[in-house]
This record gives sequence, structure tokens and C-alpha cells, in this order.
Amino acid sequence: MKPFLTTQHGILYNRDCLDVMAIMKSEIIDCVFADPPFNLGKDYKNGFNDRVAEMEYFEWCLLWINECSRLLKPGGAFFLYGTPELAIKFANIMNQRLTFRHWIALTMKGTYSRGKKLYPAHYALLYYTRGEPRIFNRVRVPISVCRHCGKEIKDYGGHRKKLNPAGLNLTDFWDDTSPNRHKKYKVRPGVNELKLMIPERAILISTEPGDLVFDPFGGGGSTFQAAETNHRNWIGIEHYDCKPIESRLNETFPLSCRRKPGFNYEGLFEKDENHPDKILQWFQR
Ligand SMILES: C[S@@+](CC[C@H](N)C(=O)[O-])C[C@H]1O[C@@H](n2cnc3c(N)ncnc32)[C@H](O)[C@@H]1O
Repeated sequence: MKPFLTTQHGILYNRDCLDVMAIMKSEIIDCVFADPPFNLGKDYKNGFNDRVAEMEYFEWCLLWINECSRLLKPGGAFFLYGTPELAIKFANIMNQRLTFRHWIALTMKGTYSRGKKLYPAHYALLYYTRGEPRIFNRVRVPISVCRHCGKEIKDYGGHRKKLNPAGLNLTDFWDDTSPNRHKKYKVRPGVNELKLMIPERAILISTEPGDLVFDPFGGGGSTFQAAETNHRNWIGIEHYDCKPIESRLNETFPLSCRRKPGFNYEGLFEKDENHPDKILQWFQR
């Protein structure tokens, strides 16, 4: 299978993620980060149909979530982003084979309430591992300051001086990750992408330099930029338009782009005909 793009650290396929995962070996990935389409009829501006029958959507989700789980090494991490409504269904699938670590709540601004519902103000980032995590790094975040006057917002009950100078421990509530909705702040107008810090934190929590990150839904390429910046190797897939990812990586890593990856990616794949047996054996264990 010919890659669309390679960099010093990564490889991108312009294919359906199920086709690529079908020829990937089991237990090779350190961290999966997945931000799937939500089946809400969103216009991805790339030809993708984000509105199919609900049953069809969840049958598809079962396939790719199970495939991502199969790819994980023991101790590897799986981060899955979604609305709370989707996340409880995704969690049901993940609970079969993985270990729950966190439901990370990310503030979501600019939504609206529908019918007899509360105003939705967060999205979920599910964090699971295959058994005990192999890596768990404590990520630190800067102390919050007022964006008008620059002064610190909290007084930490008089214990400010005792705080770690490297910042505060990241919690399971992220209130700084809302996307930039205003056009003038968008990095790539029209492309649906997460703030870089979302996949970046997932990668920093669960991997070390040289580890392998996998994202089946490339979109605008935020996971690949985060992996590249932090010297993690990566495998990515995007079924539709890969050009936004290409130009993003070209702009941010001109020296790394189009180079042969420094890891043996060919060894991570195997012949298609082994696939049905391989999947069956793995799931029967
Ligand atoms: C929500 S976006 C991902 C955004 C990405 N996390 C970012 O921050 O740039 C989901 C992407 O999945 C892609 N997609 C949909 N079905 C796919 C499939 N079967 N295989 C691979 N990619 C697919 C869509 O084209 C879309 O770009």
C-alpha cells in the first residue's frame, strides 16, 4: 500500500482506515488518538457523508474501535474524542477489552441546547489502556491568569509559594481546549481540526520519544503535528482530502517532510490474506 506522504517520523495513508488497519499487525502501537466523524451531518468540505443510519454508524464504530484496540501494545493508551452521548456508547465497546482510566471533560463553547436538555458545555476524551499503563507522565499546565489584566486568577488558599514552578498538575477537566471559531483565528479555514494541545497532551501523558502514535482519522493533521513536534513516530490515515495535512506538515516541518521515516514501518504491516485469521485469533484470546 503506497503512502500519500512520509516524514522523518511518520507515514500517512489516503485510504479508508479499516482497509489500512486490516493489514496492520497486532500489538504494535503505543498510543491511539481518534477523533471520528460524529454522524451529525457536519460538512467536512471533503466529500465525506457525515449522516448515515444510526445502526450503520454504530456497526462501523464497533469495527474500527475493536481494530484500534487490537493494534495497541500491552500497556498502550487509547484516547477517543466525542460528544458525551457518543462517548457512553464508545465506552461500552472499549470496556470489553480495555481498562478505563479517565473521562476527560473538555469545555465546549458555542453549542446550543436542544429539546428537553441542559445546555451542553463539554465534550469527552475517553482515556483507556490495555491493562496497566506502560507510560504515565504527569503533564503540567501554566497557572491561570486573567486575560485582561494578566494577574493570577486564584490565590491557592495562601499556598501559592508552594506550587511547583513547572506549573499545575493537569486534571481531568480541560477548560482551555475550545476550538477557535472565529475565522480570523483559524489556522486552516474550512478544515475541521482540534486544538493542537488536545492530541499533544494525550501523547505526552502516554508515550516517550520514539514511541508509535496512530490516528485513523487524520482530518487537518493535528495529531501528526503533535507527534512530530514531540519526536514520536506516527502512522496516520485520512480517507478524503489529505492536502491540508500535507501543507500543514510542509509548513511546520519542511526538513522532515518527504523524508523516509526513521523507523521500520514496513515491518508493521502484513499480507492481507492473513487478516481474517489474525483478527479471530486475537479476539478469541
Ligand atoms: C473530526 S475529523 C478529524 C480531525 C482531526 N482530529 C484534526 O484535529 O485535524 C474526522 C476525519 O475523519 C475522516 N474520515 C471519515 N471516515 C473515514 C474513514 N473511513 N477512514 C479514514 N478517515 C475517515 C473525515 O474525512 C474527517 O477528516
